[in-house]
Amino acid sequence: MPTTSEFATKTGARIDLRGLTKLYGDAAAVDHIDLNVEPGEFVSLLGPSGSGKTTTLNLIAGFDEVTEGEILVDGKPMMRTPAHKRGVGVVFQHYSLFPHMTVKENIEFPLRQRKIPQAQRDKMIAAVLETVRLEGYGRRYPKELSGGQQQRVALARAVVFSPSVLLMDEPLGALDRKLRDWLHLELKRIHRELGSTFVYVTHDQEEALVLSDRVAVFNNGRIEQVGTGDELYQRPRTLFVGRFIGESTLLRGDLKQHGGGSELNFAGRGLVVDGRLAEGKQGVVLIRPECLRLACSEDDVPSGHNVVDAVVKETIFLGPARRYSVEFADGSGGMVRMATASSLDVEHGDRVVAHWAPSDGVLLEDDVEAERTMT
Ligand SMILES: Nc1ncnc2c1ncn2[C@@H]1O[C@H](COP(=O)(O)OP(=O)(O)O)[C@@H](O)[C@H]1O
Ligand SMILES: [Mg+2]
Repeated sequence: MPTTSEFATKTGARIDLRGLTKLYGDAAAVDHIDLNVEPGEFVSLLGPSGSGKTTTLNLIAGFDEVTEGEILVDGKPMMRTPAHKRGVGVVFQHYSLFPHMTVKENIEFPLRQRKIPQAQRDKMIAAVLETVRLEGYGRRYPKELSGGQQQRVALARAVVFSPSVLLMDEPLGALDRKLRDWLHLELKRIHRELGSTFVYVTHDQEEALVLSDRVAVFNNGRIEQVGTGDELYQRPRTLFVGRFIGESTLLRGDLKQHGGGSELNFAGRGLVVDGRLAEGKQGVVLIRPECLRLACSEDDVPSGHNVVDAVVKETIFLGPARRYSVEFADGSGGMVRMATASSLDVEHGDRVVAHWAPSDGVLLEDDVEAERTMT
């Protein structure tokens, strides 16, 4: 029985993008991006539609010509290397299988292209079918398979020649939720077994967080931040990143420097904010729902916390947690998530106080453009 190790790569390749730019006419689809992907790493390119993710992937794959900048794979410039010589496998959203070929013939295609001898081909195909858990499906035609099975064949075809890099563009986008959740686990397993470097495009933040070691957040042809899910969630560097990943409450008001940090004048209160912005910059304070707490009275608030008055708009029971939306005096909204055990028995219209530790508020430069893109 062939094993997956017969086609597994020794190590994935390192990818470096330097000042990578793609213009269509005057418009930059990708605008001077820098990104380093470590050998064997799983990196997602996350961003809204039109932010340049697919263009970046196509440039790495060699399907499109670079306008400016560099793509290095294991330190070697790839800009003049044709796609099939880059050692890169690709999976698209639409299965893109050849309909008139069987599963086996589909998977064999890249091996023929690479002139691998027949005896070796059969072994490689058997091994990769085992990896994607489709043993025994070799003779079927794509139309005789479910969507999830077709996508696994596409994956098998992309990895059968042991690429050191696997690029995927929203490969699970057309599948239903349950199947996606299962394939996420399968993808993680296959990534571990292969050891190749994976670059995965998605507009779904949850998918990016579940799958990847690190996430590069795209906005308007640029990368706003690269980091682990935890870093992006806890310490977003821009309002766009903070808004794109997870939920949050945003507080806006006059901001002035105070001591080593800042003070935000919000809804008639002076709130303590860690950090400071350059003089004259408009600020916004972002708080995650599990960091914002509610209390019935100010007496119940731990000392040192910021406090603002709020009115309960809605409460939703989620099982382990309860979610509240509240409104502040300036009309803006807040989002609170408290463990059910420590939650508050309040309803629509009740007056409460919202509070949080100053260190849980993230001070960011305000960005009207980010707000516009997001809503
Ligand atoms: N072949 C093309 N010709 C002209 N503009 C393009 C082409 N491909 C993409 N674009 C533009 O480049 C931008 C980025 O597109 P794309 O990389 O497909 O975004 P994403 O994959 O993040 O949704 C978009 O504004 C898109 O309209
Ligand atoms: Mg795309």
